[in-house]
Parts: sequence; C-alpha cells; structure tokens
Amino acid sequence: MQTIERLLTYPEITAGEAERLRGHAADIIEGNLEQFTDAFQPSNSTNGFYTPSGNTTWTTGFWTGEIWLAYEKTGSSRLRAAGERQVESFLERIRNKVDVAHHDMGFLYSPSCVAAWKLTGNEHAREAAVLAADNLMERFQEKGGFFQAWGALGAEDNYRLIIDCLLNMPLLFWAGDVTGNPDYRQKAAIHIQNAMKYVIRPDHSTYHTYFFDPATGEPRKGVTHQGYRDGSAWARGQAWGIYGAALSYSRLKNPEYIDIFEKLTDFFLTHLPEDLVPYWDFDFQDGSDEPRDSSAAAAAACGMLEMAKHLSEQKAQYYRSMAARLVRALAEHCAVRDSRESNGLLLHGTYAKSSPYNTCPDLGVDECTSWGDYYYMEALTRLTTDWDPYW
Ligand code: GLY
Repeated sequence: MQTIERLLTYPEITAGEAERLRGHAADIIEGNLEQFTDAFQPSNSTNGFYTPSGNTTWTTGFWTGEIWLAYEKTGSSRLRAAGERQVESFLERIRNKVDVAHHDMGFLYSPSCVAAWKLTGNEHAREAAVLAADNLMERFQEKGGFFQAWGALGAEDNYRLIIDCLLNMPLLFWAGDVTGNPDYRQKAAIHIQNAMKYVIRPDHSTYHTYFFDPATGEPRKGVTHQGYRDGSAWARGQAWGIYGAALSYSRLKNPEYIDIFEKLTDFFLTHLPEDLVPYWDFDFQDGSDEPRDSSAAAAAACGMLEMAKHLSEQKAQYYRSMAARLVRALAEHCAVRDSRESNGLLLHGTYAKSSPYNTCPDLGVDECTSWGDYYYMEALTRLTTDWDPYW
C-alpha cells in the first residue's frame, strides 16, 4: 500500500531516458520483423519468447501497433512495409469474419488499422477498421444499453459488459468521424455511461464484468472473470477503467469522467506495492508471492498521460509525474535488456491467473504480454512526443 505523499518521493523517468528506451524498443521491434511480418506475436510469450502465430485472438493488433509506434520513432521503410502487410491480414480477417465474434474490435483494429490510416492514409486500413466497427455494433444490446463482450448474442450466461470494453469504444468514435454516421457515437456513449455506472464500486475499485437481465435489461450483479474474486480489484481491469475514462472524456467531454478517472487512479496508485509494479490483483500486496502484471501499470500510465492533456496545468503535472514514476519502475524492474532473455519488451506481465473464485486457467503468468509491450512503448512515445493517439 502507498500514500500519495510517499509516491511523490519516487523518482520519475527523465525525458532523455524515456527517449533512449523508446529507441531501444524500436530496435527490438524492427529486429523482430524477420519472424513477425507475415506472422503475428501471440497474446503472451512462453519462457520469455513469442513464437509466430496467425492473426487470431483479440491481441494481434498490439504487435502491429508496436510496428507503427516504432515507425513513428524511426521512419524506417521496413517497418512501414511490415505494418502495411499486416493491414492486409486485418482486412482479410474482418472480411472473412475470422475470430471476430466478440467485442474486441478496438483492441484489434485501433492500433493496427486506425494507426495505419492516420499515419499513411492507407485505404485498406480505413475499410478494415470501419468493417470492424460495424461488426462491434452488431453486439449492442438495447436491453441494458451495452456491448455484449463474449458469447452468443443475448445468451443469459454471457449477458454482460466488461470493463475492458472501454478501450473498444474509440474505434466507434473514429468510425463516426470518418463515415459521418452518428449511430456509432450514440451507442458508444450509452455503453460508456452504463459501464461507468455499474462497474465502479463505492471504494472506486472496479468489477471486471457486470451482468444484466436479458429480458428486462435490469442490472444484476458484478462478477469477475480474470480477477482473484468477484469483490477484488483485478489490476488490469482497474487500468482499463483509468485509460477508458480518459479516452471517454477526450471524446465526450463529460466532466463526470474526470472525477471517475481521478478516483480510479487514486485507488490504483495507493494499492501499488513498494516497487510500483502491481500484483495481478490488488488483493495482493508486498510480501505476497503471487505474480505481477506489469501491463496494468503500462496501460494505467497511458491513461494518465492521455487525461493530462485535458486537465488544468497543476493536475496535468501531477498525473504526468505519476505516469513518469510508473514508467521508471517498469524500466527498472521489467524492461527487457538482453535479447537472450526475451524477444519482447516488458517482462512480468500476467494474462490470467486461476484462483478458487474465478473462471480462468493459468495463462501467460509472469511473461511478456503483447499489450504490455504495446502500452509500454505507447507510454514512452507519449512521454517524449506530442503523440496523436491511435485510440
Ligand atoms: N481484455 C482482456 C484482458 O485484458 O485480458
């Protein structure tokens, strides 16, 4: 546990060090192209190493996003060509509806195709991302007012939203902008409002998922999927809430979302252990031998750096400095330094950890995760440039 006063005594990463680490990460990413141009990185490493995989699951957009972030750093034509090849894979995937019967269209298509469209004006990227937004729109449930995360549409045992989905909403705002169709924005705004209303508990920790009654849309209950227990705060879920609140505010300018952002962030920061790398669930504190989830700190830092753009200078400075502390801790304790150790960027992530109270098998425990690597690189980019988000 931490106090804010104590956190303020931790060192921040300097701009020079962040720039150096960004360059180092870009080199690792470019070095990985030989294996990962016509293949993707899987959701997580195994014993520190990613092995080539197809364009399936909810996570492949992160690797392509890393390629675009590295391209922004170096301008390398090799990186650009690899990003463009991957865009073709994403277009084929959404046209053929390969493993897209779920809500994670934003995680897949924002860092891959929206990024490509913004950086290069690639028309295939635009087409793919709009098709992905349309695919997500099919999952909107009028009864309850939310995008159903997983499973057969309307099925009682999956009639729920999950906090992660806040990161899928920017794809809909973007699709609204490029097509002029107001429906994307309207449905995203309804989902965000309901997610904020139901997943946040009175102490400003968060539920991972929240069920509704499929017949009436009435709220039912908060339940975990990847957290330790229903009533605990899954660290990455809290981070999705932080970044989701910041991105929601940036689009909707609802002042309630600033307040929510501040409260979720305060909970996150004050529940960090001594070294600032969160355990995978905030039930665990210093002294526990449970694994960490470095990706939660990386995503939370990005949320703080996004929100800082919309706050008074005093508050902005506070959140930038907290993000710079988290990134320094990640650089010190988790960044890959030796290519014999890993071909990823950020060690000590946890995709899922089984508990007596959740429904997950162990998966990617104490490994690199594709999103951990991506958000670490995004945070370094945000700390060193005036970055135009892919989200
Ligand atoms: N969005 C799924 C996860 O964070 O594991």
